[in-house]
Amino acid sequence: MQKIAVIGAGYVGLVTAAALAETGNKVLCVDSDTEKIRKLKNGAIPIYEPGLEKIILKNKNLKRLLFSTNIKEATVSAQIIFICVGTPSRHDGSADLSAVQKVAQEIARNMKEYKVIVEKSTVPAETGEKIKHTIEMNNPGGVAFDVVSNPEFLREGSAMHDAFHPDRIVIGVESERAEKIMRQLYKPFKAPIVATNINTAELIKHACNSFLATKISFINAISNICERVNADVEKVALAMGLDTRIGKEFLQAGIGFGGSCFPKDVDAFIYLAAQKGYDFELLKAARKINQERKDVLLKKIEEALWIIKDKTIGVLGLSFKPDTDDIRSSVAIDIIKLLLYAGAKVKAYDPKAMEKARSQLKGVIFCANPYEVARKSDCVAILTEWQEFRELDLKKIKKLLRQPVIIDGRNMFEPQQMHAMGFVYKSIGRRRK
Ligand SMILES: NC(=O)c1ccc[n+]([C@@H]2O[C@H](COP(=O)([O-])OP(=O)(O)OC[C@H]3O[C@@H](n4cnc5c(N)ncnc54)[C@H](O)[C@@H]3O)[C@@H](O)[C@H]2O)c1
Repeated sequence: MQKIAVIGAGYVGLVTAAALAETGNKVLCVDSDTEKIRKLKNGAIPIYEPGLEKIILKNKNLKRLLFSTNIKEATVSAQIIFICVGTPSRHDGSADLSAVQKVAQEIARNMKEYKVIVEKSTVPAETGEKIKHTIEMNNPGGVAFDVVSNPEFLREGSAMHDAFHPDRIVIGVESERAEKIMRQLYKPFKAPIVATNINTAELIKHACNSFLATKISFINAISNICERVNADVEKVALAMGLDTRIGKEFLQAGIGFGGSCFPKDVDAFIYLAAQKGYDFELLKAARKINQERKDVLLKKIEEALWIIKDKTIGVLGLSFKPDTDDIRSSVAIDIIKLLLYAGAKVKAYDPKAMEKARSQLKGVIFCANPYEVARKSDCVAILTEWQEFRELDLKKIKKLLRQPVIIDGRNMFEPQQMHAMGFVYKSIGRRRK
């Protein structure tokens, strides 16, 4: 049993805290957002993540998982302190590390004995050195400590599963003492551990996210060519994915990647590379292809409806991917904003993300279900691939629509079946009728 503090009770912090409590540790989870902590203390979970609520409530009842707004209390009580605060993009694409620095300062000021300070937030290479320097500057007593980089690879929507079954655990460590503590902590997870120096661990995270983002852009570029030569991107992806050197994950053509990680991490890696004198052209191209995906979808709507102004567009899906309520950098939100700008009326539905989307999408009519969205709309655009949409009563949708038009940005249905049902059905990179 270890005493642990997790600073930042967001998607990563809450999942980390829950998983570490579940494996028998005593965890204090801290956030500066007093409302969030008030909710958590009352047993209300501020985010939607499958399985998370159950584990939090169980460990809260067992008093293995506590919540606080006080970093001092957390620093005094824990030996291992995880930093899981946000590292959003700044205007120039670089990562805003101000929250990381603030937390490091507060930890340093309250350290009385040896601590392991773990950066779990996604940060550019060499941030560990800056954290180390910040702690030294703010801890005049010279208390011993180690900084560890332990990047997080969870996927929202399956974060709890990923936390308990990681493909690998990366630890950037520079002392035997810290390595031993981290290996012991992660023993119950039974995953391969890659131990390296701190800069390498930080770079691994950026390399992984950038590679996955590039893979998505690659298949999206292929889908553009498929459309031009009447080929089928789904079959191309299937055959590519069966090649074990390539693998089938992240080969789904669509409207591009969004979310709180890929776009910002790609920007931050391009920025870091440029700062170090390397022009990361490959990653810039992946980003450009991704930015163009929204136009690809808008063009398909235009092809079907001709003029967008004054049309009613029904949108299914707001979150950046299924099984989450997270709308940060969601492509669906961006597309809706473009539709509104073009003069369309927009009706929308999402199983989990409507509450979060409301404040960002003024003028959008939020509906109780997909059928309300379809009612008297000129088309339905599918922007997030929720399982619920696969099970739609399409005959009913067709009857409710003003025109039988479905623009499927996530390739959820079979074109032949949709055409046979009488839909004008446009999807991504598939063969024409
Ligand atoms: N969300 C993901 O899928 C994911 C996956 C891997 C890595 N990451 C990385 O993990 C980090 C956190 O991401 P997230 O999605 O959990 O973010 P989030 O915004 O959901 O959570 C961050 C939390 O930190 C809190 N916070 C900010 N400043 C603080 C301070 N000074 N003291 C205490 N709390 C503070 C915020 O109130 C917020 O609750 C980011 O660097 C992100 O890139 C995220």
